[in-house]
This record gives sequence, structure tokens and C-alpha cells, in this order.
Amino acid sequence: MRRQKLNNKIMYRTHNCGELSKKNINEKVILSGWVQKIRNLGNIIFIDIRDYFGITQLVINKLLIKNNIGKEFLIKIYGTVVERLSKNYTLSTGFIEILVSKIEILNNSLPIPFLIEDKTDGTEKDRMTYRYLDLRRSIIKKNLIFRHEIILEIRKFLSSKCFIEIETPILVKNTPEGARSFLVPSRNYPNKFYALAQSPQIFKQLLMIGGIDKYFQITKCFRDEDARYDRQIEFTQIDCEMLFVDVVDVIKFFEKFIKNIFKFSNVKITESFPCISYYKSIKYYGTDCPDIRFGMKFTELNILLKTKNINVLNIHELVIGIKVKNINDIHCIINLKKNKIKNIICIQHVSKKKFLLHNKKILNLKEICIISKFFNTNPGDIIFISYGKKNEARYFLKKIRDKIINYLSNKNIYIYQPIWITELPIFKIDNNHYKSTHHPFTSPIEDDVHLLKSNPQYVRSKSYDLVINGIEVASGSIRIYKKNIQKLIFNHLGLSDKEIQCKFGFFMKALEYGAPPHGGIAFGLDRLISLLKQDDNIKNFIAFPKNSSGKDIMTNSPL
Ligand code: AMO
Repeated sequence: MRRQKLNNKIMYRTHNCGELSKKNINEKVILSGWVQKIRNLGNIIFIDIRDYFGITQLVINKLLIKNNIGKEFLIKIYGTVVERLSKNYTLSTGFIEILVSKIEILNNSLPIPFLIEDKTDGTEKDRMTYRYLDLRRSIIKKNLIFRHEIILEIRKFLSSKCFIEIETPILVKNTPEGARSFLVPSRNYPNKFYALAQSPQIFKQLLMIGGIDKYFQITKCFRDEDARYDRQIEFTQIDCEMLFVDVVDVIKFFEKFIKNIFKFSNVKITESFPCISYYKSIKYYGTDCPDIRFGMKFTELNILLKTKNINVLNIHELVIGIKVKNINDIHCIINLKKNKIKNIICIQHVSKKKFLLHNKKILNLKEICIISKFFNTNPGDIIFISYGKKNEARYFLKKIRDKIINYLSNKNIYIYQPIWITELPIFKIDNNHYKSTHHPFTSPIEDDVHLLKSNPQYVRSKSYDLVINGIEVASGSIRIYKKNIQKLIFNHLGLSDKEIQCKFGFFMKALEYGAPPHGGIAFGLDRLISLLKQDDNIKNFIAFPKNSSGKDIMTNSPL
């Protein structure tokens, strides 16, 4: 009885829609798929049928079609593979077509809300509302396949280096970690809540205390923050931790890790990964996430202005400039007024002895020549100078630098240039309170430990961020493993001894049982993948993303 049932099973396909070729000519086949395109030539109807694997052209006699068929109808056809008269060399199946002998409609479709093609007319809202239709577009499907392959390769690489993947809890204790947590009410304990893990930070440290030598996990993290093009409230980290390592060990190892991912993806990345301190990053680029592909380091001009008596600028706390090589049309790049960019002078080296002064015309020709000589400009080059209070001067020059980078990266062949930013200050001051710049478990550098009590704001940390083309791809640090230092950090963050006990007592206790030195890092998987594909929008690499206000508009959640 059972055997009979199995033999009677419905046959949906003998082949998929991406595999038939010249060698299948004259074969009888069955295919199932969605209707991508219909061309009605009167007696003959051409239909492109699509599935996960590809597209195949069908040739159908009008008489075979009993009911109306529209785009995205799901059909099953029986037919014979024949050679195509006009070949399509862009399709893997472009040499053949199927002469259809029978057609069945497996399911109807409503009229589609947007074009299911690589170039769609769907707005982001439409695409998110009907995400299951968006997933039928090959461009999104390919992104998800790529994500899958990268994940496999990461697991393979880390496992081969003795890392083991361990899952840590998602429902965790609500401890301050930086961002706001999502809370989940507990049924068994009324008025008590779990938090959704912002990251596995404490657990991975407890794994190290538990003697695990190298850990990783590809895991979801949850943060109640504003979503952006590179930020989701629910995202995925490649989280790693290692025993008995210092900064250099982690940086060196994860350089190899990144190079392996790029090689696997067939994408070139520069050989060297420069490393600069946070302090220098702010000084030279006005940001802790610098894009260094096109140079343009900030040059401080205060000493030059003083020695050359250029008094109109000399009065400012900081005067900095950048030279942009061989870029003629600045007006189409930067509209200073529109972009609310203040206190900027722009010197354009037009020809051998001709200079144009844009925006603020406060320098005379002699002064312009001195500055131009200092920057060693040639005709075609432009200097941007920013002045004012330190933060302000850097802020506006960074804005200009960003615009130029945007302009240049659209024109140039894409290159990937990583940089490590190290030694972030342990604390930042926010509303007169100390806050962790990274997170509270980050170790101070040994040279600065003596400042921890008296001048905590000057203490640098053993932290490292990996920035590629201006995007923070990963962040990590060597951790505190001594209880007294951890306590001091918590105290500076405003936690009383009682609060430390209540929130982190379990962790402080663990530090008392021979806790070992350890350190680690976490990569943003969604960001890394979108970077590899040169697409700024991480939503294109997540099957079911939330919109920019944290809403899933397909399921209408939260409810
Ligand atoms: P951090 O909070 O810097 O560090 O996160 C590590 C990396 O995760 C990515 N990332 C995000 N990606 C998408 N959406 C978000 N909302 C988002 N937030 C962060 C970034 C970032 O560099 N526990 C520490 C790591 C450690 O110290 O080991 C942590 O979570 O690419």
C-alpha cells in the first residue's frame, strides 16, 4: 500500500530552469516555474519560465492555453528540448527552447506590484512589503547565496585554526553594554524581564574563563537603536575570542582572516593594513572611521601662518588643509552653502601663475602663493583650508573630504584599503559622565594604568577597530582580567559597589577563579558582505530586514 503511494508521487520537474543545454536536444522534459515574461505572437506564445536556477524559453501553441496566464503564475509544462533559432548568449539555457506539449497552471498570481527583474521599478517600501517577491529577483537571490558561501568559508577557516563554534544565550540579563536593549517579559517571574543579547560579550569572556582556547560564533545581536543604511536593530556578528593574546596577536590573525575572505570572494584588497591610534585618526582625518583610499591627510598650517605672518588666519585655534590632486570642477562636487559647510577657503591652482580663491576671499595673492608652495600644488589641484576651534575646523574639513571621496570613488576603479584604529580612549565624557568608548570590559594599556584613578579621561585602551573604505567592519579589544581594574572601571561609569554586585556579581566572581588574559573581536557580517559587493545598503543582504524605523512592514511588526 505504502509502496504504491510512493510510486504515484507527483512529478513537478525532470530538470530545473537553468540546466538545459545543447546536449539535451530532443529530450522530453517537465519543468515547473514562475512566468517571467510573455510574448504573444498570435498563434505562438513565448513564455520565459523562471525558478531558483535560471530561465528557460518556452514555445507554446495558442490552442494549448485554456486559461489566462499572467506574470508570476506558477506553471508546469511538458515538452521537448529543441535548438533555438535566435540564440541568447547571456543565458545559460540560451541555446535551446522547449516545444511545449502540455501546460498546467499550478497556481495563479495577483498582478505583481513591481517588476521582478534586476532593474525593478519597486520602491523600497514595496520591496519590503512584498519581500517574498523581491527575493525572486536574481540580484537579491545572488546576495543571499553569496552570504551563505561566505559563512561557510568563515566556518571552515576558523575551524581549521582551532576555533570552535559555541552558541551563547540570546535571552540574557539586562546589563549596561552601550546601546539600549530589547526587553522580553518572563512568564514565570512576573514583572521581571530578560534582555535580548546586544552581543555575546560577557559569555565569550566566561568561555575563556572556562578554559576554551579559541571561540567563535556567527550570531544575531539585538540593539534598540535607530536603523540606518549600515545599521539594523537585529544584525549578525562573527564573534571571536582567544586566550593568551595581546593586541598584535589579534590584529595579525584577523588580517589573515580578512585576506582569506577577500581572496575567497575574488576581490582584491591592499596588502598592507596600516595601523594608527585613535588620536592620530582624529588629527589627520577628523574621524575614527577614516577612508584612506585617496590620501588627503589634514595638514596643520598654524606654524606656517605664524612664520609667514598670515595674520588673517593665524588668529584661529586650528587651521588645517587638504590638497586634492588634479580635480578641476569643484563646483559640481561641493556646494559649500547648500551643505552648510562653514569657515572654508578654497584655492584653485588654475594655470602656472593663476590662482582662484573661492568662497571666502580673505587671502591676498602673496599669501595664496605661500600656501600653494607649501602644499606643492600643480595646475588642476585644489586646496581646501578650514579654520576655527579645533573640533569645528576638523568637522567641516571632514565634510569636504567625505564629499571628495564620494566623487572620486564613483569615478575610480574600486579599491579596498583597510586601516586599524587602535588605542581608543577608555572613556568618553557624555553630559559630565564617563561612558565607555568601546565597552566596559576593555583593558587599559599598561602604560596608562597609573592614570586610571587620577585622570581616567587620558587612559588609552587596548582596543582596535578595523575600518575598510571608511566603514567600521569590526571592533575588538584585549579584556580586563583583573577584578580590581574591572571594579575601578565600573566605579568610573557611575556604578556603586552594590550596583556592581547586583548587575555583574556573577562576572566579578568569575574573575576571582584564575581568570586568564584574553581578547577578541567581532565583525559585522552584514556590513562585511555588503562592502564586498560594493553595495552600501545592508538590507540587500538580509533576507527579511527591518525598515529604517525598525519596523517589519511585511508582517507589520511590532504589534
Ligand atoms: P561592536 O558593538 O563595535 O562591538 O560591534 C562589532 C561590529 O558589529 C557591527 N555592528 C552592526 N552592524 C549592523 N547593525 C548594527 N546595529 C551594528 N552594530 C554593530 C559593526 C561593528 O564593528 N562585543 C563587541 C566586540 C568585541 O569587543 O569583541 C561588540 O559588539 O561592524
